[in-house]
Amino acid sequence: MATDTSIHETVREHYAERIKSNASCCGTDNCCDTTNSLYPEQLLTTVPSDIASTSYGCGDPITLASLKPGQTVLDLGSGAGLDCILAAQKVGETGHVIGVDMTPEMIERAQVNAKKVNLNNIEFRHGYLESLPVDSNTVDVIISNCVINLSPDKEKVFNEAFRVLAPGGKLAVSDIVTDGILPDAIKQSLSAWAGCVAGAVDAKDYIAMMESVGFTDISIKPVLFDKETVDSALADMGDAIDLKTISREDVYKAVYSAKITAYKPA
Ligand SMILES: C[S@@+](CC[C@H](N)C(=O)[O-])C[C@H]1O[C@@H](n2cnc3c(N)ncnc32)[C@H](O)[C@@H]1O
Repeated sequence: MATDTSIHETVREHYAERIKSNASCCGTDNCCDTTNSLYPEQLLTTVPSDIASTSYGCGDPITLASLKPGQTVLDLGSGAGLDCILAAQKVGETGHVIGVDMTPEMIERAQVNAKKVNLNNIEFRHGYLESLPVDSNTVDVIISNCVINLSPDKEKVFNEAFRVLAPGGKLAVSDIVTDGILPDAIKQSLSAWAGCVAGAVDAKDYIAMMESVGFTDISIKPVLFDKETVDSALADMGDAIDLKTISREDVYKAVYSAKITAYKPA
């Protein structure tokens, strides 16, 4: 039986291993994104290619966030720092970006990457989404890329996100959600959890959790991938799914990447 602690440990070990071996994303190979075609090409021209390709996301929260100079941004599960770096470039010297991640190896890599691009308006803090090391009412925009699905206690994550946002603040998140409830065999598989599949919840439940903590104007829209991306993700998810109990095609049909926005009332 997967517990909150075992899920955190499995996920942390998984991502520590991924970053140490310089591999991308969730599965045995690259599952969420291999080429970083998720971001507009133009957006990535401002960062070196090794930073642009060290990405474990499933979407583009930067475009979704529409960041402005001077804003304070918080990235939930900042990984190797790509979204923090892009956000820091958007908010400029008068803005500030905080990345939070529970995997020390990710924090170290993110700090190295931020130094490489000479950005002084970013800091990375070690911590959990379920207990954010951030003061209340201090953040203008929260971004996150393929992380909330990995949390064993999403209600706590949304509570914490709501707490740290300033009144009128925005949440702009790329995440994996499902259409329907996943079979128990998938839910209980820790490797599928680390691979961004088992932890994903139904979009309707995701919305209900956000509403229950106070978020308003909530929107969840699917990101449409081309066939090549879908096929490659299916191939990479092979290990994370017990194909005796469900076909990959069925899982993939039920699990999708979404653009999610919501606001804390002013
Ligand atoms: C799929 S990766 C995404 C990383 C980054 N957002 C990106 O797009 O490259 C998930 C990241 O979230 C972190 N993470 C997962 N669950 C977390 C939690 N409950 N609290 C803090 N960090 C978490 C992992 O350590 C990992 O770095």
